Amino acid sequence: ATDKMIDRSADRYLVNYTDAGKQVLVMFGTEYGCSEEVAKKLFDSVASLPLDGSGARLQPRLVNARQHSAVDWSQESVLLLVISTSGDGVPPTDARDFCDWMLGTKDMEMSHLHYSVLALGDSNYPHFCRTGRSLDKRLTDLRATQLVPRSDVDQEDWSVIDSWIDAVLNVLPVVAIEATLDYLSLDTVSCDQSYNRTRPFMATMTVKRRLTVQETEEDKETIHCEFELAGSDLTFTAGDALGIYPQNNPAEVGAVLSALCASGRELVEAPSWAYQPLPAGKISLEEALLKYYDLKHVNPELVKLLTKHTSDKTERVEGERLMKDGLSKNNIILWSYLHSHEVIDVLKSFHRARPPLHLLLSKMKGLQPRYYSIASSPVLDPEKASVTAAVVRYSLHGIPRTGVTTTYLQDRLEVNQSCPVFISHNPDFRLPSNNDLSIIMIGPGTGIAPFLAFVQERIATGASGDNLLYFGCRHRDKDFLYKSELETWSKNGSLRLRVAFSRDQDKKVYVQDLLRKDTKNIWRHLRNGAHIYVCGDARHMAHDVHQALTDVCQEQGNMGAEQARRFLLGLEQVNRYQKDVWV
Ligand code: 2AM
Repeated sequence: ATDKMIDRSADRYLVNYTDAGKQVLVMFGTEYGCSEEVAKKLFDSVASLPLDGSGARLQPRLVNARQHSAVDWSQESVLLLVISTSGDGVPPTDARDFCDWMLGTKDMEMSHLHYSVLALGDSNYPHFCRTGRSLDKRLTDLRATQLVPRSDVDQEDWSVIDSWIDAVLNVLPVVAIEATLDYLSLDTVSCDQSYNRTRPFMATMTVKRRLTVQETEEDKETIHCEFELAGSDLTFTAGDALGIYPQNNPAEVGAVLSALCASGRELVEAPSWAYQPLPAGKISLEEALLKYYDLKHVNPELVKLLTKHTSDKTERVEGERLMKDGLSKNNIILWSYLHSHEVIDVLKSFHRARPPLHLLLSKMKGLQPRYYSIASSPVLDPEKASVTAAVVRYSLHGIPRTGVTTTYLQDRLEVNQSCPVFISHNPDFRLPSNNDLSIIMIGPGTGIAPFLAFVQERIATGASGDNLLYFGCRHRDKDFLYKSELETWSKNGSLRLRVAFSRDQDKKVYVQDLLRKDTKNIWRHLRNGAHIYVCGDARHMAHDVHQALTDVCQEQGNMGAEQARRFLLGLEQVNRYQKDVWV
């Protein structure tokens, strides 16, 4: 009965309320797909939950927070909200409107609603799980009844996710009786046909060129690719990112197939998260592994499944040792094993395990699209999106390893071939609307990408404010990305370019060192209203740059440490200090 409800395109199918009684709404807000994956699992569990001995089932619906305005809240009885917090404590792009509405609407009341929130986040960032926490508090303030307490999930910790889902499933039958939820089958209607994450556009790669010179294995391999957007309805703004769905390396798929003693021609269902257009009917195991499953990420449930299905005593003992402390994050042994293994490694270490294929696939993570800041301005060409990618290749346990999307772009996708793409809007990384203001851009390595779009656009729109760029690379002769463009702009006065070549002398020089040498200049621009942008590595660079900016304020603005901290926070709040950073 729930087959048609097991939604393959959650954000474009909504309920027709004419048939609806009291509802169970599973809503998610996702940036990178994890909340969506969790919500789908929750949705499946709710749909198959026996309510009593009669076989009655609930009819949940799965809706992307992006579509919140199509929900008639007066008709809802139960809201199960799975929502991430991204970057520096902001809601996922698609969920911003929902959050603004929920947190900001006056005279709202939700006392008829039962709810629970699962908040996802990353505790390496400040404001861990802020979006979920604020919505949880707001729903309580609106007098909605909490079904089970909110759980905060750090970095996809499935033990926390699964405990929360279990707790929700335990109370739902009770609420179903109390609130006399309807078990009607609901029709779905479709709306919004534009290309997006669930229905990506097949874009042709028109240009691919190498930006670096490689003499040794240590040297960087960075490429520039251009995608043709003509024929799509995709529009973007400088600062946005291009989402790209990669395919796995056929050699790695082959290795997985042989570890499973499979031919690859076995037929399997396409997973619920498969993007559109969906393959008609079943697909081969080989196609499924190429397009839809993450072969780099090991779900702890996979280890559990293989342990259960192995015929070999040593393998079983090893599996039991790994899981001695269960699947929780406190199980250091298991977690370090998972982090240093890919699916193929695990299959090899359990080579006598033969679980049913569909079970095995159900324990694997979906292959997610990767996001690349767009390195070209739509003002120059709205039908072209360029990206800059550092190709990831390294060695682990003596075996060569690769990044999926970067090697897909470099090794497997040829010019004139196409791949599925969509736009990820980034309203928190925008040029000032006032063209007279200066911009200070700080972006080592591939962090340069959005700044190419910024500078192109500022030139094209005749912006009079200064464009300052602090760029960093290892060697002038090898990985000075976009050297000729940057030097041309620098020569004709469009760009004030400063480059830190970290490895061209004994002592390392980084962008933050250049900032510290330039404190007077930076402070002068800041006092005149300049906007600051930081793009690139979140773990170290963004932090070190922030420290250097604090020093600028202390030194030039005569501030104490606390005052400088608050000043930069103020700049962030008025959107004059924006970051596009990743780990
Ligand atoms: P390195 O590799 O020589 O350490 C682009 O990757 C550039 O960023 C490289 O020159 C790299 O230097 C530099 N880099 C590494 N860590 C950094 C940090 N914490 N802050 C700023 N730049 C950094």
